[in-house]
Amino acid sequence: MGRRDPAARRAGRGADRQQAPAAAAAPSVNTVLGGDAVLRAADIDVGHARERRRQRRLARVAVVLWVLCGFAWYRVLTGRSVNPLAGLSLGPEAVFWLPLLLLVLLLGIVTLLPLVGQGRSPHLLYRPEQIDVTLDDVKGLDAVRDEVVKTLNLFLGYATFRDQLGGNPRRGILFEGLPGTGKTHMAKAMARHAGVPFLFVSATSFQSMWYGMTARKIRSFFRALRKLAREEGGAIGFIEEIDAIGTSRGGVDGVAATPATASGGPGGRRVEASISSGTGGMVNELLVQLQSFDVPAFGERAWGRVIDWLNGYLPLDHQLHKPPPRYNNILVIAATNRADALDPALLRPGRFDRKLYFDLPNKDGRRELIDYFLVRKAHHPELDDPLRREELAHLTFGYTPVMIEHLLDEALIWGLRSGRDAMRWVDVSQAKLSEEIGLKQPVTYTPLEKEMVATHEAGHAVAAYLSGVGRRLEVLSIIKRKDALGLLAHNDTEERWTRTRSELEAFLRIACAGMAAEELWFGESTTGPGGDLVGATNIAAQMVGALGMANSLVSYVAMEEGLNDRNVVARVLSDTEGREKVDRILKEAKAAAKEQLDGNRLLVEALRDALIEREELIGDEIVEVLRLAEADLPAPPTGPPSGLLPNRPAPPAPAVEDEGAPATQ
Ligand SMILES: Nc1ncnc2c1ncn2[C@@H]1O[C@H](COP(=O)(O)OP(=O)(O)OP(=O)(O)O)[C@@H](O)[C@H]1O
Ligand SMILES: [Mg+2]
Repeated sequence: MGRRDPAARRAGRGADRQQAPAAAAAPSVNTVLGGDAVLRAADIDVGHARERRRQRRLARVAVVLWVLCGFAWYRVLTGRSVNPLAGLSLGPEAVFWLPLLLLVLLLGIVTLLPLVGQGRSPHLLYRPEQIDVTLDDVKGLDAVRDEVVKTLNLFLGYATFRDQLGGNPRRGILFEGLPGTGKTHMAKAMARHAGVPFLFVSATSFQSMWYGMTARKIRSFFRALRKLAREEGGAIGFIEEIDAIGTSRGGVDGVAATPATASGGPGGRRVEASISSGTGGMVNELLVQLQSFDVPAFGERAWGRVIDWLNGYLPLDHQLHKPPPRYNNILVIAATNRADALDPALLRPGRFDRKLYFDLPNKDGRRELIDYFLVRKAHHPELDDPLRREELAHLTFGYTPVMIEHLLDEALIWGLRSGRDAMRWVDVSQAKLSEEIGLKQPVTYTPLEKEMVATHEAGHAVAAYLSGVGRRLEVLSIIKRKDALGLLAHNDTEERWTRTRSELEAFLRIACAGMAAEELWFGESTTGPGGDLVGATNIAAQMVGALGMANSLVSYVAMEEGLNDRNVVARVLSDTEGREKVDRILKEAKAAAKEQLDGNRLLVEALRDALIEREELIGDEIVEVLRLAEADLPAPPTGPPSGLLPNRPAPPAPAVEDEGAPATQ
């Protein structure tokens, strides 16, 4: 029903034009299509439709009042009481039958009430004035915001778009993105600006234990949308986590229908299709309802039936004309974290044909978010320093907006715990460490263990210092956190999206440096490097099987696997040749790291001693120790030529190297 019959549309337009109060008031086409600020609902088609509806409602109230007045006037003129119930009496026998009647009524209500509630639409209705989120509160999502503003303007100026340009207004948008990227937040802002009722529903609330009740609830939801759209000139429905009712129906058809959407990998689609068929009925109902926006209202249907009945008695050339169904201005927004799992039929044009991807914010976006959140959170003036804020934006690479907000909340708690009434930079650092790695769990190491852990971490840090051009050493610690006995956190100095081969090799050297240091100073390694080897194997397997960096351009990612789909690491390691290549790369990295540390023993020892003394070094403290030690060196430190380009940032490599727990190795 997204595309109506052109003849019907022409007729519909005619009908709408007759009702339109002032065609001159219609906005220019350009305004409707291209404006970058949201139009005011009252000034445009939605407002006009609401005004027409209001006038009709007033007329209806006037008619009812006139009838009541006429009735009362008639009763007064005929000498009777104005109250029509006056003089009615139940009689003395009511003592016997009235309690019985009430009991039967009560039993009926108790039996039927649960069923009555079951079929109702589970939505929550919000009016724009109840929502306090505006588009200005949505930060770091500029591209999505522009698209949303355009969609809203089209929604508000639907009649202009339809009648002047002959377009089909957008009926559904899908918000896709990681949890906490602002999908619900954006939908609220849209509802606030659209100035129409906003029906919020969580997809899981459609589910019911009664057979057929889920489909009924979906129907009720769309009926409520249509009703409100008729009354208010438009309505927005928001279905949260639509994958709960909209996953692929599965079966052969589901697979066959997906070639265009197979970007997630044909294997993945097939697996999904073969295990998720439980939502089939709901998906079908959803598909039908997403086409039902122009279903006539009850009154229109009844009137249509009267016309049909009359036409049965009229000759063909004198048949009465049945009005076309009225256009209901409805926009349905659905949000999901898993758009690839949705049924392809839901995504075809006319349904959720516009997908908006809510990506992780980039550095500028994160800076905007930090500024926005800090306005409301008590903080020390040092956090107002633009350099500090830039640094925080940099350090929160990969964070979603909600993670940034949570980090600042945690920092506030750290501040309060330390007896302050506002957060400081040190609180933010602590909160970040405890969020990413875990809370400190200080344990008492034996002196030898302490030296070993400190040597291991110092090895990592020196390798990162020497190989990691363009990297910043952030934290070096030998305090136990979760299952890490110590850690080195290092990060890019700038936001990065790609890596060179020599950078990956440098990451491998840094990862293997802990083990190399243990072997150099203690003659053997401990259980500590277990965690490092996991990360290093991951990088090496990617180099072999996905990035063509090991004398072969064959990609293991292209292999199509069945139900037991494996990641690229598993694919590479299960292949003898691939495994050998990975092993060779790792051994070479370790040998290089060992050579590097052996040539810079003084640096490792200086850092080890500082760690044993202070347990944790933050940021510049690490570099200070290294620079002091360098000053004592006879010549500048040498190492294998670093392939790292200066000033570049991040994907596959872990930002944090930590030491695996002995117990798990
Ligand atoms: N772009 C943003 N600007 C400002 N605040 C944001 C933004 N995105 C998210 N937030 C904050 O994060 C909170 C959670 O975001 P939201 O509920 O919109 O995430 P979501 O994408 O819907 O997640 P989910 O997929 O889990 O439903 C919001 O209440 C808001 O405080
Ligand atoms: Mg949400």
